[in-house]
Amino acid sequence: MLVVDVTMKKKSDQISLIKLISLKNKKALITGSGAGIGKAIAHRFAEAGANLVLVDINFQNIAKVKENLGQFNVEVELYKADLSKSEEINSLWEKMKGTEPDILVNNAAIYPTKSFLEVDHPFLERVLNVNLNSVFWMCQNMIKSRLKKGGVIINMGSIEAVLPLKEGLSQYDISKAGVMALSRALASEYGRNGFRVNVLVPGGIWTQGTKNLAKEAMKLNFGVLKSGFEYRMRSPLGRMGNADEVACMALVLACDLSSYVTGALIVVDGGFLSAFLFSKKI
Ligand SMILES: NC(=O)c1ccc[n+]([C@@H]2O[C@H](COP(=O)([O-])OP(=O)(O)OC[C@H]3O[C@@H](n4cnc5c(N)ncnc54)[C@H](O)[C@@H]3O)[C@@H](O)[C@H]2O)c1
Repeated sequence: MLVVDVTMKKKSDQISLIKLISLKNKKALITGSGAGIGKAIAHRFAEAGANLVLVDINFQNIAKVKENLGQFNVEVELYKADLSKSEEINSLWEKMKGTEPDILVNNAAIYPTKSFLEVDHPFLERVLNVNLNSVFWMCQNMIKSRLKKGGVIINMGSIEAVLPLKEGLSQYDISKAGVMALSRALASEYGRNGFRVNVLVPGGIWTQGTKNLAKEAMKLNFGVLKSGFEYRMRSPLGRMGNADEVACMALVLACDLSSYVTGALIVVDGGFLSAFLFSKKI
């Protein structure tokens, strides 16, 4: 008798959970993997068996991350690159020619604050180059090099692009809105070539970057500090998230657990976007 489950697959075809979540024999490139969310993603992907390519502007940090990944018995390549420069991106892909990654995570970004009225050309250009243009060129290189094989792309958005909470982040907000639009365009255009392209949309996550932002706020801008308090007030879970909570969702998007997910914006914000303002006590 043929046993059919709810997935409408023959029992004999059903892949085990362990296999679905595994990244064994896959290679994953993670940008901004020297700190914060990128570093946490590197840890989870290594635990799932992926060989890694760690890319960051800070070489010392990725070297430290590599040391800590020793326990997982995976290969780890390191590349120092300033992703705001398209020539550094091209040279990175040139070096990887023939051994391109199966999975690309565009995570690196900066979030300096500046009042909208004080933003000048070099400042805006820097933020857009690091946060948006780099993602554009990284995706183009990935898709060009794997047009016949396909692959997985995970880009990092932000709830800030949907619901601006902090003052002085208009340049960041438009960069992340661009990343989200680009991801959906690529998912639509290259699905038939075997690419799945999704966006993680984190809420407030404690990382070195957000700690620096809080320090900056204490010195200069009370508005940013207040927004951290407001974040916890509004959040149904009443707290900031941690980097590993984003990394776990990245793992789901990277592996075959999400084989039918593309063009999706996956919000990891403790319910922040769906909550009514100040409806909860802390
Ligand atoms: N932390 C949050 O609350 C939060 C919320 C929403 C979205 N995000 C997004 O998640 C991602 C990671 O954020 P995070 O808080 O872990 O950041 P982080 O500042 O802690 O780490 C960012 C990493 O990117 C690297 N980097 C910065 N500029 C670079 C460049 N030009 N070239 C190469 N590497 C560069 C840094 O050296 C660092 O290792 C970002 O895309 C951020 O916008 C974070």
